[in-house]
Amino acid sequence: MQESLVNEVQEYTNKYLEKKSKKDRKKIGQFFTPAAVADFMASLSGDYENFEELNILDCGSGTGILATALVDKFKTHKNLKRLHIDLYEVDSDVLPILTKSMEYIKHKLENSPIKFTYKIIHGNFVTLNVDNWNSDSVGRYDLVISNPPYKKISKSCEEAVAMNSIVHGQPNIYFLFMAMALKLLKENGEFIFINPRSFTSGLYFKKFRTWFLENVNISRIHLFVSRKNVFGNDQVLQETIILKAVKSRLNEDMMCISESTDSDLSKNIFQIYMPYDTVITKNENKFILLPTNEEDVKIMNLMSNWKYNLVKLGYKLKTGPVVDFRSLEYLKNEPSNETVPLLWLHNFNDGLIRFPVTKDGKPPYILNNSESKKLLLKNKDYLLLKRFTSKEEKRRLQAAIYSSKEFNYPQIGFENHLNYIVKESGNMELNELFGLYALFNCDILDKYYRIVNGSTQVNATEVNSMPLPEKELIVRIGDLILKENDLSVDKCNDIVNNIFNI
Ligand SMILES: C[S@@+](CC[C@H](N)C(=O)[O-])C[C@H]1O[C@@H](n2cnc3c(N)ncnc32)[C@H](O)[C@@H]1O
Repeated sequence: MQESLVNEVQEYTNKYLEKKSKKDRKKIGQFFTPAAVADFMASLSGDYENFEELNILDCGSGTGILATALVDKFKTHKNLKRLHIDLYEVDSDVLPILTKSMEYIKHKLENSPIKFTYKIIHGNFVTLNVDNWNSDSVGRYDLVISNPPYKKISKSCEEAVAMNSIVHGQPNIYFLFMAMALKLLKENGEFIFINPRSFTSGLYFKKFRTWFLENVNISRIHLFVSRKNVFGNDQVLQETIILKAVKSRLNEDMMCISESTDSDLSKNIFQIYMPYDTVITKNENKFILLPTNEEDVKIMNLMSNWKYNLVKLGYKLKTGPVVDFRSLEYLKNEPSNETVPLLWLHNFNDGLIRFPVTKDGKPPYILNNSESKKLLLKNKDYLLLKRFTSKEEKRRLQAAIYSSKEFNYPQIGFENHLNYIVKESGNMELNELFGLYALFNCDILDKYYRIVNGSTQVNATEVNSMPLPEKELIVRIGDLILKENDLSVDKCNDIVNNIFNI
């Protein structure tokens, strides 16, 4: 059996980890890919059996374990005569290990027909390639493999300014790495990344996502059941995916989505080939939908027939405008002639709003004066939706009915941790309100939200573009739930599942 180069580099990595603190590594977004994950990523590349020469890029290379995994795969290829790797790394502490890894490979390939060369480029991968980003010339690499640094950076950072055409809001260095790496690839070159899932949805990633999807053909996305141990002892809280794509403006018909545990990547718990068009949403947001079981797939298929969304139906989900620490002067513990209720997440109570409830010293009232008025909303009927839920909570989407009748005030305050759905013109009829309530409290929509977004936050962009059925059906669902007089999730599921024959 062939000796595995990756295992040796893993040893070097382990030794380095003993010396450099987690805190110092976190500052530069440094956490290393375990050998098994590196091997899996390398296994996703094409076979390149007929290639005589290969040019590989490993950006943010750390100890070089990803590039090494590729060499392990290609080292026995009969036709290969030249194998070159460029490795970008900013951290001078890890450079000796990186050099050691590459020298080790060189030594091991000394007597093979493959001429192995490498170049370590000490510096910032993004800023060093700005000219390439701005040029029309074609890339030079056949293959890029990377576990990019994960770090939020400011919009005024050199990297973000340089790539400003794909930045909206606060950027994260990881997606700038993805974009730059793609730019440096040859046409039809392969792209293999392990990176956070967050770019697959969300407004802040929209510019990047749109550009990226126009320039790649994704063939595989691999997810992990648990995010805990993908990076060994370094607990990375971000949900991580492995992405395999080809640089091409043409898309294949199908894409493979798979999921495994983090401890055994060779056994997929779930794997499906789905039409490209079903995975990438057709709306302008271009979300990447990631089902992880058969039920998810059924839900995607059902909802792909729903032609409406909140906005098309005349509603909109918005975020509560009262940010407590910015509004301290208006917040009150006791009511007065000048105050109106301020609702928080803890006012949610089995689908309804309970008021007043005090929790953790959070003031239940807010001043309604000429200055604070801009933070308040007209007292009309709203559907409230939690904006944050904890990882332990079973449901992401949790709705409650805000009935204007119950609050004898002209205005009302909604705190920033809750979202509200408003009818843009006029007030909602009772059956509309209860219909939306049942939909947003049923398992179908909750699961769909998870297919779109892996985080625990419920964002306006995602919810506003979620497919919904026509108004007549929403109203019918509302009539049924009103008749039953039961707001439980079970009842919502019964009614919705019945309407859609699930
Ligand atoms: C998440 S680690 C991955 C390391 C290695 N590729 C692996 O998979 O084990 C990202 C690496 O990128 C390096 N890095 C961070 N910012 C960088 C930059 N702007 N340019 C080049 N390397 C960078 C870090 O020092 C770190 O070694």
